[in-house]
Amino acid sequence: MANRLAETRVGVLGTGVVGRRLAAGFRGRGHEVTIGSRDPEKSELREWLSAEGAGIQSGTFAEAAAGCELLVLAVLGGAAEQVITDAGRESFAGKVVIDAMNPLDFSGGFPPKLSISGEDSLGERVQRALPDAKIVKAFNIIGNSYFVDPSFSDGQPTMLIAGNDADAKRTVTDLLADFGWSDIIDIGGIEGSRELEAICIAWVKIGGVRDAWDHGFRLLVG
Ligand SMILES: NC(=O)c1ccc[n+]([C@@H]2O[C@H](COP(=O)([O-])OP(=O)(O)OC[C@H]3O[C@@H](n4cnc5c(N)ncnc54)[C@H](OP(=O)(O)O)[C@@H]3O)[C@@H](O)[C@H]2O)c1
Repeated sequence: MANRLAETRVGVLGTGVVGRRLAAGFRGRGHEVTIGSRDPEKSELREWLSAEGAGIQSGTFAEAAAGCELLVLAVLGGAAEQVITDAGRESFAGKVVIDAMNPLDFSGGFPPKLSISGEDSLGERVQRALPDAKIVKAFNIIGNSYFVDPSFSDGQPTMLIAGNDADAKRTVTDLLADFGWSDIIDIGGIEGSRELEAICIAWVKIGGVRDAWDHGFRLLVG
């Protein structure tokens, strides 16, 4: 039986499909959730909060970060550093921070390229921007509709995570298990974000080739 993540105040920074999916996932597992936005009063967010997002609180990025114990960064990759500044770096100190983002550059059209690559990654930039936080890269290699209770006709894909803090990765592994993931592989330090963000590009390219977005990757061991 997987360890269950104890009831936690979770702040999800980001109101796109990823932020909403994760916020609803945490809420569905009994956590207290605040979703953060530049504009927490915007009408499409209010509509979502009164329907699928019922029971979730909303606030500014700063309010969500300050009031919560575990944080999720789920914003546009290119806006991540601005969102961290807006949220207030001090509010991340000592906390587990899940980085679900990818640094996608669509300036050349589809498929996107990584806007950060080589000897760096968005995950590492986030960790450098927040040296006192425990960043764990997770969820970035799969479409958001599979984040919670992933169900595929061919079996379950593998979730890959990376981060520098072993306890933080245990916490994220517990919550992934709560979310229904059974095959979770920790690939090492946060520099593993280089590979995990590149896997997103492969995932998007395969989606373009198949013209379908219902795929995931599984590690097979012979
Ligand atoms: N789509 C997927 O299935 C999927 C799967 C895995 C990972 N990801 C990654 O997850 C992240 C979120 O993706 P998404 O599809 O949910 O939405 P998105 O459009 O990439 O991001 C939406 C969020 O980014 C914020 N944002 C956008 N521009 C901003 C700016 N200039 N300054 C501050 N905040 C800004 C928005 O803030 P407001 O709330 O104020 O509008 C909103 O909360 C991305 O990094 C994406 O690559 C996506």
